Amino acid sequence: MNPLNELIVRTLPFVPKKVIRHFASRYIAGEKLEDAISVVKKLNEQKKLATIDVLGENITSESEAIEALNTYKLVLNTIKENNLNSDLSIKLTQLGLKLDYDFCYSNVEELVKLAKQLNNIVEIDMEDSSTTEATLKIYKELRSKYDNVGVAIQAYLKRSESDIKSLLPLKPRIRLCKGIYIEPETIAFKRKELINHNFKHLLNILLQSDAYTCIATHDEELINEAYRLIAEYNLTDDKFEFQMLLGVRPELGNRIVSDGHKLRIYVPFGEHWYAYSMRRFRENPQIAGYVFKSIFTR
Ligand code: FDA
Repeated sequence: MNPLNELIVRTLPFVPKKVIRHFASRYIAGEKLEDAISVVKKLNEQKKLATIDVLGENITSESEAIEALNTYKLVLNTIKENNLNSDLSIKLTQLGLKLDYDFCYSNVEELVKLAKQLNNIVEIDMEDSSTTEATLKIYKELRSKYDNVGVAIQAYLKRSESDIKSLLPLKPRIRLCKGIYIEPETIAFKRKELINHNFKHLLNILLQSDAYTCIATHDEELINEAYRLIAEYNLTDDKFEFQMLLGVRPELGNRIVSDGHKLRIYVPFGEHWYAYSMRRFRENPQIAGYVFKSIFTR
């Protein structure tokens, strides 16, 4: 980490919670499900799809996992009741991945089954590299039984090409993103050029395959490359969509929508917003830089 980023990250815990909240409010729908629902309604009015995420990860007891499972079920039912165009994004460590594999699998299966009944989709986020193997195993097992489940793949991981190739026979739904966690150089590309190079390479593989590809980035270089490949392979929108995080580069999102493409916005909500924001800032000092920029340019 460069010294400036290190300084920023070390200073963050002393920034008043109120300031962090002000900053985070752009990126997080709010604490309650109603907050997420009203954000999704507005997005749908702008012809944007959504994926709702309940903040939280790395739970340490089965009761916390069941609580998260019940909240996710409520989210799915509420999406249906309000006739919203939104799916669900989940983190497996919130549903017990670090407690017990089978327990986690059955929790996720319950959600995917409910989503299937409600004509909806569950997207599995990819967390740090200690969870990659188990996450992909759960995904493969589920995908062999259900067609309404997707998984994220991180372009910074050197293993991702071979992971994608092992998933392709299942006609997967894959969200390609750069990756947000701090990983060692032995397993991950660290430099932006290398990550972008791998992202383009993986995107090229995905867009030529039977996968449904979710292109999750705010990086114009990568979005331009996606446009190029979409035109080259003459792809229709049943093969891909773009995805962005709530509050990040909305003008670029508007352009994607006005170009006639599908765009899905990741909408996180929940009580754990402070811990979530701080973790993300620590994990990605570049984001911490945005906090400082927003504090000093207000
Ligand atoms: P990059 O970080 O280079 O950003 C490009 C530009 O976008 C920046 O120059 C800046 O202008 C702007 N920008 C990016 N992030 C910003 C922010 N927070 N605030 C303000 N401006 C910002 N990761 C993961 O490990 N597992 C996962 O499951 C997911 N899931 C996921 C879903 C969706 C829908 C998205 C969009 C992203 C993820 N990610 C993720 C996060 C992803 O891996 C990555 O860390 C971020 O998207 C930032 O990378 P970019 O590709 O946007 O490029």
